[in-house]
Amino acid sequence: MYESIRDFLSLARSLKTAAKHLMTSDDVIYILSHIDADGITCASILAQLLYLIGKPFVLKFVNRLNMEFLKKFDSEIEPREVMFCDLGSGQLDLISNYLSKARRVFILDHHVPIHNYSKIHDEAPFKVIHVNPRFYGYNGGSEISSSSLSYLLSRVFAGKIKDVINFTKYAVIGALGDNQDVGEKRSLIGLNSLIVNEAKQNEIIEEKIDLLILGRKSKPLYQALAETYNPILPGITGSLEGALKFINNIGLGAGRLDMDSITLDDLNEKQKAILLEKLIERVSLSFGGKISVEEIKNMLIGYVYLLKNEDKPMLADAREFSTLLNACGKLGQPQVGVALIISEKDKFYDQSISLYKRYKYSISEGIKKSRESLKDHGRIKVIDGESWLDENLTSTVASIMSQNLLNGDILVVFSQKINNHVKISLRKLRGSGINNLRELLIRVLDELKCGEGGGHEDAAGAYIPVEKKDEFIKLLKKIMPMVV
Ligand code: C5P
Repeated sequence: MYESIRDFLSLARSLKTAAKHLMTSDDVIYILSHIDADGITCASILAQLLYLIGKPFVLKFVNRLNMEFLKKFDSEIEPREVMFCDLGSGQLDLISNYLSKARRVFILDHHVPIHNYSKIHDEAPFKVIHVNPRFYGYNGGSEISSSSLSYLLSRVFAGKIKDVINFTKYAVIGALGDNQDVGEKRSLIGLNSLIVNEAKQNEIIEEKIDLLILGRKSKPLYQALAETYNPILPGITGSLEGALKFINNIGLGAGRLDMDSITLDDLNEKQKAILLEKLIERVSLSFGGKISVEEIKNMLIGYVYLLKNEDKPMLADAREFSTLLNACGKLGQPQVGVALIISEKDKFYDQSISLYKRYKYSISEGIKKSRESLKDHGRIKVIDGESWLDENLTSTVASIMSQNLLNGDILVVFSQKINNHVKISLRKLRGSGINNLRELLIRVLDELKCGEGGGHEDAAGAYIPVEKKDEFIKLLKKIMPMVV
């Protein structure tokens, strides 16, 4: 929750300044957004806002905001007004160096800004309007996502709340996509929770405590269980056959000839309680009794955010919707995700499901290989996906694997080579002694004298030259004790 009224007013002022600047824009605004669920929802909210206020815009997505991208964008498009969403705060120096034609740059981001941003603001060759809740004491890693920020910006414009209230659901989907459900029973906290309240009051979202299995309406229960990775369910995750057997063994399949017809939503409370109890038993097996039943329970049940009046089963649960958007973005089709939000939901729904199936398959293969190739470097665990892991999947694989590992401080995941570089995803492990992963990463990159990266307290990412991988791990081992 916000610490003080002063912080809240400062953020509101910053949003108002951005709104004033947007109103005076008379050129095409290029929205550049990140390809994950938060980036897609943030950009979609902004696109709808600009449409509402009658400002022309072009929407573009980017996976990696680096020098090559900015140079090309600057020379081919010659943009005058640019709006960065869900990225930019950590790259303001690059933006300032390579956007030579820009007159005005908006940044709407919740990531940690570069340390000397105020100097760069002053010296940039264009006007910088930088909205980041971290400037006002909010934790951008857990209390507010970029999509929530773009909803707040829309609220500043809204003459009538009903014009923008529907955006609340996309703010919630974006925040869940960024794993900001870190409150009690996996609830959203801080400014995100105020948006949830507004959505509930206006009957956009319904909140309940339930099993957190994705696919409650959209797929048979056995398939939903087989596709569950958080936590990994031994003998069930990745195996349709194992999941079917499990359901039959615990008596939930009794009398049913067609298992394809039972979904999680079809179970009554008593059946759900049996399912939960048996799942807890399974999961405790894989952790060898080293984590408590209560902890396992908290992984399996919690707050579920349901979108009211949503007729497409995969879009009815905000967490499932966000996975669908991640699938679209990570497979290079963020525009399909945008179409689900902005306009042609009916036309693009099936296409988004095909992308989701491909994505799920890749993740399932990625997890299998990750478990085989996990290397133990003491407090650091390493998965080197050089020959098999796509750069866009390191993030998801790292998040899943980190939830399912017991010992250690940090998980490091390396991707396949891209232009002689590798993507790295870093995650804190359960009970890690590391305070701030981003800080640690930046110090390692400083000593490595190459690479670019950023992130926040619990998750960070970087690109480094492929030949520097061993040195990266060595430096991580050396520097880690200094930042604990
Ligand atoms: O990609 P991944 O999910 O591992 O990234 C973790 C965090 O690090 C994210 O917040 C992402 O925006 C950030 N990151 C970054 N610079 C990079 C790669 C990731 O700031 N080059």
